[in-house]
Amino acid sequence: MSDTPRKILVTSALPYANGPIHLGHLLEYIQTDIWVRFQKLNGQNCLYVCADDAHGTAIMLKAEENGVTPEQQIAKVKADHERDFADFQIRFDNYYSTHSPENRQFSEMIFQRNKDAGYIVEKEITQLYDPEKGMFLSDRFVRGTCPKCGAADQYGDNCEVCGATYSPSELIDPYSAVSGATPVEKQTTQLFFDLPQFEPLLRQWTRSGSLQEGVANKLQEWIEELHPWDISREAPYFGFEIPGYPGKYFYVWLDAPIGYMASFKNLCDREGLDFDDYWKADSDAELYHFIGKDIINFHGLFWPAMLEGAGLRKPTAIYSHGFVTVNGAKMSKSRGTFIKARTYLDHLNPEYLRYYFAAKLNSRVDDFDLNLEDFAQRVNTDLVGKVVNIASRTGNFVKKFGGTLSAHPDNPLLVQEAQQAAATIAGFYEQREFGKAMREIMTLADHANGYIADKAPWSLAKEEGREQEVLEICTTALNVFRLLVLYLKPVLPGLAERAEAFLNIPPLTWADSATLLLEHEINKFNPLLNRVDMAQIEAVLADSRETNPAPAAAAGDDKATEEEAPIGIDDFLKVKLRAARVVQAQHVDGADKLLRLTLDVGELGQRNVFAGIKAKYAPEDLEGKMVVLVANLAPRKMKFGVSEGMVLAAGPGGEDIFLLSPDSGAQPGMEVR
Ligand code: 2FM
Ligand code: ZN
Repeated sequence: MSDTPRKILVTSALPYANGPIHLGHLLEYIQTDIWVRFQKLNGQNCLYVCADDAHGTAIMLKAEENGVTPEQQIAKVKADHERDFADFQIRFDNYYSTHSPENRQFSEMIFQRNKDAGYIVEKEITQLYDPEKGMFLSDRFVRGTCPKCGAADQYGDNCEVCGATYSPSELIDPYSAVSGATPVEKQTTQLFFDLPQFEPLLRQWTRSGSLQEGVANKLQEWIEELHPWDISREAPYFGFEIPGYPGKYFYVWLDAPIGYMASFKNLCDREGLDFDDYWKADSDAELYHFIGKDIINFHGLFWPAMLEGAGLRKPTAIYSHGFVTVNGAKMSKSRGTFIKARTYLDHLNPEYLRYYFAAKLNSRVDDFDLNLEDFAQRVNTDLVGKVVNIASRTGNFVKKFGGTLSAHPDNPLLVQEAQQAAATIAGFYEQREFGKAMREIMTLADHANGYIADKAPWSLAKEEGREQEVLEICTTALNVFRLLVLYLKPVLPGLAERAEAFLNIPPLTWADSATLLLEHEINKFNPLLNRVDMAQIEAVLADSRETNPAPAAAAGDDKATEEEAPIGIDDFLKVKLRAARVVQAQHVDGADKLLRLTLDVGELGQRNVFAGIKAKYAPEDLEGKMVVLVANLAPRKMKFGVSEGMVLAAGPGGEDIFLLSPDSGAQPGMEVR
């Protein structure tokens, strides 16, 4: 560590003030919190700020639905969010709101500076308007029939069935998701941030090492087609009115990232810190934003451009992560895997989740699967079975033989090995390779447990005159334990605190890895962590399971989640299953998994269907065979052509897949049920 601490400012994405924190959110806050705690422990001057993202149509409508003012709505949600974060041991230096005077001031300033520099343009556009509600409708609030595939009830910007993107005015039979009225087209003048002017800056910045490679590549694609960005919204809107433009408001995504600055300013004012020192164009402070992969365009394009246009510094780096899945699938309300932070906390210790996230996190943008059985096993094996076990097998012998650790460890090499790992583990934390750090720590724990088993202090303790030997063995084990607790402290601050109390020491810092605990009186050992019981997990799932989940929110705060109402028999009967004969099966150029099947469906004629079964079936195995076809599925445009239905198969995938084919007596076109 250098002598002058680094000045580091860290943020996590600001959660919307219209819904509770859930496990999908927590991955990011826990990841960020671990990184920040590590920096602090390692002596850096690191500050972590966040806030509720309080503006926008979705929040305005949510307040209306709840029969409260937007201000009441956001105050209630903010209090809930703060309680959830605190209980998950996420320790912000400041938690604020985008609906704050500081944020208004910075939003106006950044807008004005960009305007003065010629980066704000006015454009007349046609937008859909809800005549009943008296408001303009953003794409997410218009629904209707897909103009490409005819699927009903699709969003105004893209079809979830065929993947087509279009403008809301192209929808067939559009309706307002707010009132159900048929929208009308209306002219309006809006303000745009002229992003294309920043193309050279963005090309350079996205390749400057500030982004993970995959993210930089994705942004590169967008840089090829930059458009001016619509930053204003018409009243009624919950947000900041734009100075000089009565009735027009800053779009929520303009003032949201500025909320990072506002929260930090609020902290600076409270603690007497120098705000400009962190945000001036040539600042030597480091600025990191942890975000989910779905919002990289806002952070990787608009945000650096807006900052540049306002003469402010740009982020040092943006760290993106993937989405959380539970047991291999999107979180689902009907399966009970859409788990709210509070529901988890009602049954399980937050440290379990912090550890499991850490154990599987790396620096990449991969999605993260929370496998609940693996979760229980990993926590029980690693934390209870390996780490805590070291102390529980040795702590009480020290107490029994005087309560003071010996002057020398019995095995200095074992302790040294644990000390020397400090640098490697620090490097892993710094690079956000938490999984590697956890593996390193568990290897050290294995060595300590092997050593304790060999020495069997419990047997020696029964023998006359071997107290000193036992004390030296326990001193070895407890010194390794102390180091492991230190290395785990960014992840498990609560466990560290309990262990510090047991070892009777002041709070550990990273520098303490260089010292040992010798001739030191310790306290009585009390259990530090309980095992996870599958029954607790079952209770979380049971409490999370909704039999009639609400339909998907109009303005997706539930990204990475899936709303799954159970279907009734009537819905099921809508699915037309027909026997079909494979007339021809062909490889598809450029597709690893797909086969193109030409099917004879009797009176329904021939169908062309793509099926992902190539790992198991060769084309020649299929020709002449009977399969079951979902015959009334809307045609789906794929990269290789249109798929007119779906062939049913069962199995987990890959080579373990089995076509569902009817008995040999079946005729093409016959109903199968
Ligand atoms: O996607 C979201 O949940 C946003 N509320 C994140 C905002 S992050 C920042 F830009 F404010
Ligand atoms: Zn479609």
